[in-house]
Amino acid sequence: MKLFVDTGNLKEVETLAQLGILDGVTTNPSLLAKEGGDYRQILKQICQTVKGPVSAEVVATDAAGMVREGRDLAAIDEHIIIKVPFTKEGLKACRTLTSDGHRVNVTLIFSPTQAWLAAKVGAAYVSPFVGRLDDVGTTGMHLVREIVDIFDNADFATEVLVASVRNPIHVVEAARMGADVVTAPAAVIEQCFRHPLTDIGLERFLKDWEKAQAARV
Ligand code: G3P
Repeated sequence: MKLFVDTGNLKEVETLAQLGILDGVTTNPSLLAKEGGDYRQILKQICQTVKGPVSAEVVATDAAGMVREGRDLAAIDEHIIIKVPFTKEGLKACRTLTSDGHRVNVTLIFSPTQAWLAAKVGAAYVSPFVGRLDDVGTTGMHLVREIVDIFDNADFATEVLVASVRNPIHVVEAARMGADVVTAPAAVIEQCFRHPLTDIGLERFLKDWEKAQAARV
């Protein structure tokens, strides 16, 4: 399973890229708005840092506007994936952009039928939002299992990109279910590193070593 970071923050991308664990980045209008500054420049720098797929979202709501914005975003860098919302207009735009040779991420997926319809129009990725489903009292990861099953049966090339990830359990479940990509905030990726027994174990190794060295002199 590939790991993307869900952020508009260049520093976070740089830090994770340096660790060699990062395959791509997803952004959305909320994340880029938080950064301020020139979003095109930020996206360009993120692309140059990660050198992998970077989703950038359109804000138009009609198909023609989405296509126009999508082409404009794609011109920023070859790594840009155009993100469109799951609406009928979004699907029309996805079809046009895909036939132009662009890769499209259809976002705001909350049901298996939405994922299936997006795959039918050639989406490169679908983004089920698991955390937001959990927030309203349903189990978001059930949706991922359904989409993975549907795509396996239909042999769609569309990748399942698990989004709105809130904790490492989402990451583990996504990997076990056979999702293609998980995109997580940097804080959740940080949690994936941590285990108190690793810290305690290392501390004990180092102390024992120091004690042995001191006994020798
Ligand atoms: O990038 C889209 C998605 O990951 C948003 O997550 O936490 O705002 O539901 P969240």
